[in-house]
Amino acid sequence: MLVLGIESSCDETAAALVEDGRAVLSNIVASQVDIHRSWGGVVPELASREHLRNIGLVVRTAFRDAGKTIGQIDGIAVTQGPGLIGSLLVGLSFAKAMAFALDTPLVPVNHIEGHIYSASIEHPGIAYPRLALVVSGGHTSLIFSPEPEHYLPVARTRDDAAGEALDKLAKFLGLGYPGGPVIDRLAGQGDPERYRFSIPKISDGSLDFSFSGFKTAALRTIEQAGIQPCRGRGKPSKQILDLVASYQRAIVDTLVAQTRKAVLRYRPQSVLLVGGVACNTLLRRTFTEAFEAGGFGCRVWYPSPVLTTDNAAMIAAAGTPKLARGVPAALDLNAYANLPLC
Ligand code: KG4
Ligand code: ZN
Repeated sequence: MLVLGIESSCDETAAALVEDGRAVLSNIVASQVDIHRSWGGVVPELASREHLRNIGLVVRTAFRDAGKTIGQIDGIAVTQGPGLIGSLLVGLSFAKAMAFALDTPLVPVNHIEGHIYSASIEHPGIAYPRLALVVSGGHTSLIFSPEPEHYLPVARTRDDAAGEALDKLAKFLGLGYPGGPVIDRLAGQGDPERYRFSIPKISDGSLDFSFSGFKTAALRTIEQAGIQPCRGRGKPSKQILDLVASYQRAIVDTLVAQTRKAVLRYRPQSVLLVGGVACNTLLRRTFTEAFEAGGFGCRVWYPSPVLTTDNAAMIAAAGTPKLARGVPAALDLNAYANLPLC
């Protein structure tokens, strides 16, 4: 089954052709990072306009790279939410128009479910039950799956997402946008013991995350220690390197601590690490050490980086079993900024 995936939930316009949910024939991502960089974050209005400008070319390129024609697809999978509503509507409207014109079935996909599927593209047969940590610029959640396409929300962030917390510190320190990959690179050169961040305690027994306290504590440290933001292309100071290393360590420790509690509660066979922040070197290493070597008997799975950050191959893969069931969506399908995963 050949499926066209379309993804436009945030600042990446993406299209991919995937065969049988596994073989990625093309995976095109037009990133808007250069446009949003000068604002230090995604500007929703600019994002929708860019999606509109790029989507036709991105979809055409996906077909060209795959060596396929539009008449060869068996269906279209498109992100329905959650995300920026203006951005979602561009991908969804394009997909609906294509489905109508080609008389081909269309299925909606939840963006979070797409991230969860991203791990299965390269690793078929990941054992159930599974626990997924979805950790990106917009989301930080733990989701338990006792069986395929059955999702039980376990925890979510009460404030910022982990990626957002990394991006904000990088912005304060003049390290560029998006901050996650820069912090990942610089943290290896700093001392993670130099600054202390206390891990927030949520007292109602839930496994939820909270990251905004780290941001406030980092701002206080910057002020009290008189840390000057980086200017131009100069090498960051020792203080900056130590701060990003300590901050990254605190975020990773929080993610691992909450996941450990969920592993003890739900006893999964597999732990999935997905979403843009799952590219993080320290997070991948710590997860593998904690859950594979740590006596829990779980396998840890994460996708390669191109499938980890936002992409449409994961949407096509998640849509494939839905299309195979043969119940396509009606063309009055809408997008939802806060679409729940259920
Ligand atoms: O999944 P994604 O592309 O988009 C969302 O759904 O949000 O994730 C983007 C996020 C950004 O916050 C970015 O800073 C972070 O992923 N990120 C990283 C790394 N690569 C991307 N964070 C930490 N380490 C990385 N290597
Ligand atoms: Zn995402």
